[in-house]
Amino acid sequence: TGKPGIPVAHDAKELHRLYAPGVPRAVVMTMGALHEGHAANIRAARELLGPDGQLVVTVYVNPLQFGPDEDYARYPRTLDADVALAAEAGADLVFAPGDAEMYPHGTPGVRVVAGELGERLEGASRPGHFDGVLTVVAKLLHLTRPDHAFFGEKDAQQLALVRRMVRDLDFPVEIVATPTVRDPDGLARSSRNRYLSPAERASALAISRALAAGAADAPRGAAAVRAAAREVLAAEPGIQLDYMVLVGPLDFLDVPDDHTGEAVLAVAARVGTTRLIDNARLTVE
Ligand code: PAJ
Repeated sequence: TGKPGIPVAHDAKELHRLYAPGVPRAVVMTMGALHEGHAANIRAARELLGPDGQLVVTVYVNPLQFGPDEDYARYPRTLDADVALAAEAGADLVFAPGDAEMYPHGTPGVRVVAGELGERLEGASRPGHFDGVLTVVAKLLHLTRPDHAFFGEKDAQQLALVRRMVRDLDFPVEIVATPTVRDPDGLARSSRNRYLSPAERASALAISRALAAGAADAPRGAAAVRAAAREVLAAEPGIQLDYMVLVGPLDFLDVPDDHTGEAVLAVAARVGTTRLIDNARLTVE
């Protein structure tokens, strides 16, 4: 059923029929509307696998991870373009299951619970979001059976939770992180950027500017990082800040002002009706 170049499987049986025995396999999970950020994950996976491994890109807009007032219905669905981009970036197969394949009995009663880490920051703003993410990631790991699975640092808390789930529940897979891909002006690539008007896009640039300002002050300590980032965000009236925090990279709890070492500066903000997230990893001195 493939369009240009690579085959598309819509259920697990079809997918497994396309599998070659005895070769390493990697997966890049996505909700489609693929862009350069996704492509970077696909290229990194191809690099790690070499030419003989099989690289699966999954495309599935997971209803379980959207809140009732979120953009599930209007989330872009562009499968043909996604297949072409996945092929171009080096994927061998696309797995694009339907809701009936993923949730045959409707909303599942049995789910993965993300726990305390899943209730902070993104989890506080989006109740149940990470339970939905981890449930679909667990299912897609079982369905695709990869040796390696790639996730972007752009979604830092999601990446931390996937790592935690894999460790806590002993999934036989290696999780690999891909650095955040940005547009030349600094805006982190996101499928949601297409919702932004030109004016909103200009406002949104304050997010990456704030991260850069915070990172530049990392040698002056945690309080200086927070102050620098806050100052940039406060100067941009087009942004409604949800949170701006400097947290530990594993627990996502606020680090104390005398903290030294690794930390994540994370921002979530609404620009118009579009909610954006971004983060930077820093070493605070
Ligand atoms: P989605 O937002 O489509 O992102 C798919 C993968 O691409 C995630 O691992 C994400 O972190 C990565 N990604 C997105 N933008 C990126 C960027 N600018 N640079 C680098 N990587 C980037 O995240 C999801 O989908 C879903 O929650 C999913 C894991 C597929 C479960 O439904």
